Amino acid sequence: MLHYGACYYPEQWTAEQAKDHIPLMRKAGVTVVRMGEFAWSRFEPELGRYHFDWMDRVIQDMQKAGIATVLCTPTAVPPQWAVVKYPQILGMDRDGRRRHPGSRHHACKNTAEFQTLAEKITRELAKHYGAMDSVIGWQTDNELGGSNTTRCYCDNCEKAFRDWLIAKYGSTDALNEAWGSAFWGFEARQWNEIPLPRVMPTGNNPSHWLDYVRFASDTQIKFHKMQTDVLRLLAPKQFVTHNSMGRFDEIDYYKLAKHTDFLSWDNYPDAHGDPMMSSYEHEMTRSHKGSFWVMEQKSGPGGSAKDGLWGEPPDAGAIRRWAWQAVANGADGLCFFRWRAALAGAEQYCHGILDHDGTPRKRYSEVALTGKEFAKIGPQLERTRVETKIALIRSFDCLWSIERQPGAPGFRYDDHCFELYRAVKRTGHPCDIVNVDTDLNRYKVVLAPCLTIVDDATAQSLTAFVKGGGTLVLTPQSGARNVHNRMFDTPRPGPLAELAGVTVEEIRAYHHGQTHEISFARGSLIAEVCAVGGWVEALNCGAAESVAEYRDGPSAAKTAIARNAVGSGQVYYLGVYLPREILERFLSGLVPVLPIKDIPEGVEVVRRKSAAGRFIFILNHSGERQTITLPGQILDLLTEEKVGPKITLSANGVLILKG
Ligand code: GAL
Repeated sequence: MLHYGACYYPEQWTAEQAKDHIPLMRKAGVTVVRMGEFAWSRFEPELGRYHFDWMDRVIQDMQKAGIATVLCTPTAVPPQWAVVKYPQILGMDRDGRRRHPGSRHHACKNTAEFQTLAEKITRELAKHYGAMDSVIGWQTDNELGGSNTTRCYCDNCEKAFRDWLIAKYGSTDALNEAWGSAFWGFEARQWNEIPLPRVMPTGNNPSHWLDYVRFASDTQIKFHKMQTDVLRLLAPKQFVTHNSMGRFDEIDYYKLAKHTDFLSWDNYPDAHGDPMMSSYEHEMTRSHKGSFWVMEQKSGPGGSAKDGLWGEPPDAGAIRRWAWQAVANGADGLCFFRWRAALAGAEQYCHGILDHDGTPRKRYSEVALTGKEFAKIGPQLERTRVETKIALIRSFDCLWSIERQPGAPGFRYDDHCFELYRAVKRTGHPCDIVNVDTDLNRYKVVLAPCLTIVDDATAQSLTAFVKGGGTLVLTPQSGARNVHNRMFDTPRPGPLAELAGVTVEEIRAYHHGQTHEISFARGSLIAEVCAVGGWVEALNCGAAESVAEYRDGPSAAKTAIARNAVGSGQVYYLGVYLPREILERFLSGLVPVLPIKDIPEGVEVVRRKSAAGRFIFILNHSGERQTITLPGQILDLLTEEKVGPKITLSANGVLILKG
């Protein structure tokens, strides 16, 4: 079923203010509401006294209107009585400043009192609602780690970090060896000599840092799992999810998603940003379990709680296009944030479908139109999935290693991953975003950008994939470090050198925009010349053949890009960051050609399939009319007429075709 709805905060409305809410929801085609997210102070107004009737009434009223409920565990904001009674539950930032109450995400998840309180409220809610039919599922907490609170630096975290290290290393000798603690005399003889990587006079040890950020991520996952375990026990028929934050980089969502039925995420597209960014995050979230929800979808001018600015309004048609973009990329549920703009509190400017006065205006009409379309198309999408032969490996270890040591000024691992993703999307292929331990054999092409940390298992899996006929693309900085974030003592790309058939002779990082030219000597881009900069690697070809060479500079005539044929597959090692247009053409030569070709920039084509049928979504994000050629005439499901082969989409246009 395709779920469609809104985030609703009944505790923020009087009965008089709320009287039209449910009738208006029905008219808009709402099938689900998400509630309870920040309502701990209502559910448990004082320690151990629980109060659920107010929510029971709302859930029942929703049910009578045919609207299901997703409930949230309300642990993102502990009640004020808890903060006063247990001030130690307040987390601490890197500078040693307490995270003060009054907003949210201020509690430390390694503090025993908070863990106990959070477990108890989850248990009581699950006992009360776990068998209620119209409660279909649970969202744990809210955006774990939100407002950059994943990494807490309080004394409880320091102690928990040491316990985490004891479990991992067993002895301080093993830890010293792993971290290379002989450097700058950081050797520890007792566990209590190990600090958190707080602000230091000079840079901290990258191995210390990586273990700490892994630990901080694990802390959030453990907290989520504690809640999931309770919910699974007491609410076994209801799903468990979490509203993650797409490309948020502090929590290893691969690990977290294991403890969900599916992962969800909150989509706040920037009207002036790259529209493919939302698809990147949709696909990232889908790739864990094959489907996902958008638990919060921007539905109006999204203002910020911090700076007090009124957000920019979405163009007419953008809300509908965003909703279908999520579904096209595999979403099975979508809730707009929020039903009605808040009259009070920090988010007065975070608009909802309805304005503060509750009057249905343009945005409501667009949501209602989309609701009708969801009701019409939804049943046909039952059991359909997005399938792809292309995957991109996005590793949190690599992300965190590069966060600490980007190498080139301004280099961001995730931006680089996105560039490659974007280039794949231009070919019309979807792209799974996967971890290093994924079984790669179902893919034809695997992109492994900046795979700086590589262990033996990953090297073996990539080798088996290539030998079996796959195409692997590696990019600069690959194969540099072991799992402890220490450099390898063999030539780069370390454990991938044999597979890639190259070694890196020299690296030049440029801080002042210097560039070189490379020219392609082989392959689909033969004779093409382009400029490269930022970080350039001169390669020595072993078994590999040179595909592109430097034309100038200290590495003139040296290899910049190499190709190695291995078994029935091939590996490309890119020693440079290719400009966008060249990268797109380079990758389009590696992936299978699809029937819809020459997709204009800003237009997205995605398919969902099942044994029963194939649905093609065409979305025009470009802000202008666009023309596209289909392989023939195809049924347009919204108008029920055949269209094509040439079709024109207006700005914000959405086509859903069956064929
Ligand atoms: C999300 C958050 C919501 C709300 C929204 C405002 O990140 O989960 O609770 O704050 O942002 O844009």
